[in-house]
Amino acid sequence: MCGIFGYIGSRTASAKLVFDGLKNLEYRGYDSWGVAVVSETKLKIFIKKAAGKIGNNNVDDLPDGNIAIGHTRWATHGGVTDTNSHPHSDCTGNISVIHNGIFENYEDFKKKLIQKDHKFISETDTEVISHLVEDFNKKLIFSESVKKAFNLMTGLNAIIAIKQNEKQIVAIRNGSPLVVGFGRGENFLASDASALRPFTKDVYFLEDNEMAILEKNKVRVSNVKTGKIVKFRKQKLNWNVDQGEKGKFPNFMLKEIYEQPRILSEIASTGSGLMEKVAKLIKKSRGSYLVGCGSASYAAMAGTYLFSKVAKRHINFAIGSEFGYHLDFLNIDSLVIPISQSGETIDILESMKKAREQGAKIVSLVNVLGSSLYRMSDEKMLISAGPEKSVASTKALTGMIAHLVLLSFSLDGGVRKGKKVLMDAVDSVKKTLSDKSIKNIKKLAGIIIDSKNIYVIGRGLSYPTALETAMKIKEISYIHAEGLAAGELKHGPLALVAKGTPCIAFLPNDETYGANLAGAMEMKARGGFVIGISFKPHEVFDYYIPVKDAGVATIIPNIVAGQLLAYFLTIKKRLDVDKPRNLAKSVTVK
Ligand code: F6R
Repeated sequence: MCGIFGYIGSRTASAKLVFDGLKNLEYRGYDSWGVAVVSETKLKIFIKKAAGKIGNNNVDDLPDGNIAIGHTRWATHGGVTDTNSHPHSDCTGNISVIHNGIFENYEDFKKKLIQKDHKFISETDTEVISHLVEDFNKKLIFSESVKKAFNLMTGLNAIIAIKQNEKQIVAIRNGSPLVVGFGRGENFLASDASALRPFTKDVYFLEDNEMAILEKNKVRVSNVKTGKIVKFRKQKLNWNVDQGEKGKFPNFMLKEIYEQPRILSEIASTGSGLMEKVAKLIKKSRGSYLVGCGSASYAAMAGTYLFSKVAKRHINFAIGSEFGYHLDFLNIDSLVIPISQSGETIDILESMKKAREQGAKIVSLVNVLGSSLYRMSDEKMLISAGPEKSVASTKALTGMIAHLVLLSFSLDGGVRKGKKVLMDAVDSVKKTLSDKSIKNIKKLAGIIIDSKNIYVIGRGLSYPTALETAMKIKEISYIHAEGLAAGELKHGPLALVAKGTPCIAFLPNDETYGANLAGAMEMKARGGFVIGISFKPHEVFDYYIPVKDAGVATIIPNIVAGQLLAYFLTIKKRLDVDKPRNLAKSVTVK
């Protein structure tokens, strides 16, 4: 979590440039923000930082300077306050540090530094880094001091440090992502390549334990453990500048919801060139796993149903944070398919490292090119959903499922059939996004807005759909929602259904219809307000949301209907739909 942006070059409004860069990274953390700029005329580093979102703030009061760094925070150590916001300074104010990650053993060093009379003003682990660098810098040159401090830190971290009079930015990473962007007479740093989009297409993704020293006209990279110079190769990224813009939409979530028909039909027409190769790898393996976190875990779970239904194949499924406890089964014949939008989710990265140690092959399904997961995989299938900015995943999730639909058909030798099914889903998604359907879903949001609890049921492929819909509702509208396998209702949760409790039932045209309907009836009999999301109406429904049948791919338009309901509940509650509380887009802490 946390967004990092840095600039060194000839532009004098570097504080503003970094501040604007941070706006593209705020999805990584928005508890607070801060910018430090080196002013050559005033011989000082100036810092502006504050708790809360960037919002309508500005850095107009910061002076000119050619070097600046900035940070958006997702708090770990220390509450959300102005003082705990990054950058953090040393005792002299000449050194400034920003940090992403957790400096696990910071307390030992803090105690020693206090004994040496260092003065701390925040509760953060990051401030300890500034003072460590200050201490080492008495004997070592600046970059070596930063390196020495970094090498003492345990945990997964990325740090950036600057010092008054040093015409350089020093950046080091281990675990937390950092990418260098190359310009003409200027260089950039960011925790996500998409933030560099307005400035350059030439990038280098720092590997673990690499240190980059950025100067105006040069970038040097070395390994902090061995001290050896790294001969790196720049990578060229292909993207359009407007891919990450809101355009005519009021927020990113709505924009990303509406992008789905286009993305899904692109996936259907191009697929991933690797689909057949991956299908062969799955067939060859002795034991394969789909692994994901949060919404991506629901895609993984959907994959198990798709593989079973379409390809008559068993594939295991695990949540990223739990996969570590399944690893004993893995060996060189195992295949692991991690699924991730960001490719930076630490629970996935950690478990993939362990899977690799057991000899397993890793074939990732990932959205962010060049991300840590992308780079550590033996084969990679790109989701190709474009940059996803809203914290709640929408288009990346349906993109993941679309790839799994194609993959399951490829396993059965019928990728063409898979593409046709996917195009049916595109048609159904378009209908779900029609004005009439939107009006219907918006009206429902108005009816259930004051509910304390919402229950969502489904069976088979609609079980992960129910989990995903409940997740979307709770994470952005803050209404408690619970997704359930419909068959489990009678084993406990029915006790909570009372008069008027909204109960959403997914009833696609498949083998689950009858049994699912029974679940809806059980809820209705207890006074539940039954919302049917189905290809046809039924008298048990108190409210009906039509979703056109698209075979096994109906899961996609069903999920879109759930996204829209969560969206309108949130908008009606006047909440920030793109940046829900306590969350961040790229979860890089355990
Ligand atoms: C929910 C959501 C999260 C992510 C999860 C995994 O809307 O966005 O649950 O799905 O944090 O993230 P990635 O896919 O980046 O690994």
